[in-house]
Amino acid sequence: MEQMSKLPTHVSIIMDGNGRWAKRLGKDRLEGHKEGVESVRACIELCVELKIKYLSIFAFSTENWGRPTSEIEGLWALMLKALRAELKTLMKNDVRLLFLGDISQLREELRAEIEHCKGETAQNKGTTLIVMLNYSGKWDIVQAANRFIKENPGKQLTPEEMDKYLVTAQIPEPDLLIRTSGEQRISNYMLWQSAYTEFYFTETLWPDFRKNEFRLALDAFSHRERRYGKV
Ligand code: IPE
Ligand code: IPE
Ligand code: MG
Repeated sequence: MEQMSKLPTHVSIIMDGNGRWAKRLGKDRLEGHKEGVESVRACIELCVELKIKYLSIFAFSTENWGRPTSEIEGLWALMLKALRAELKTLMKNDVRLLFLGDISQLREELRAEIEHCKGETAQNKGTTLIVMLNYSGKWDIVQAANRFIKENPGKQLTPEEMDKYLVTAQIPEPDLLIRTSGEQRISNYMLWQSAYTEFYFTETLWPDFRKNEFRLALDAFSHRERRYGKV
């Protein structure tokens, strides 16, 4: 398995099912999110081992603001804690951290930690971990279009120009998109960028998605034939 022939350059994950994982065990939803952090750690480790260049994870959607305040606050607290706890390991593993989404709406303490982690890891050359935070696909497309219009008055927007204005401009499009927990939908994630992405759905809940589950997804990807509309 470690010599898998066709590995994706960019794997993206819609990490779903934390709440249901907790409910099954009669625990608070936040316990599910906490356990989910362990899955993130395992997936980063495998990407580092397999030298996968980009791993992006959907951590918070613009629609997630509709959740109870206690859960949202719990998520920010967990994120802050995880960033502080993991920075050393990320440095050791040569992981570069990026955060994409509308960070400006987050609380100051978290924004400061995000800037710190970005700065510290900026020169790392191994896997790039992209945390999609307060992100949504429609938001991204609209902010890109608005910025293009402002900077290029009177000019026609093309798909190539669009690519340069999306928040993902600096990273390649995802080759493989994994969604856990049995839901088979995109939930306003990378709408533009997933035009030719391979999708992989699993019933496994995110807190149970560890290295072996990840390997199964990578193996499935290696057997896909990508045609891009050709024959
Ligand atoms: C995914 O798990 C984590 C976030 C969206 C932040 P959920 O919290 O959506 O878990 P379920 O879907 O309710 O089980
Ligand atoms: C998608 O999961 C968002 C993240 C994983 C951050 P949701 O649980 O919010 O999606 P829906 O509501 O089931 O579509
Ligand atoms: Mg969910």
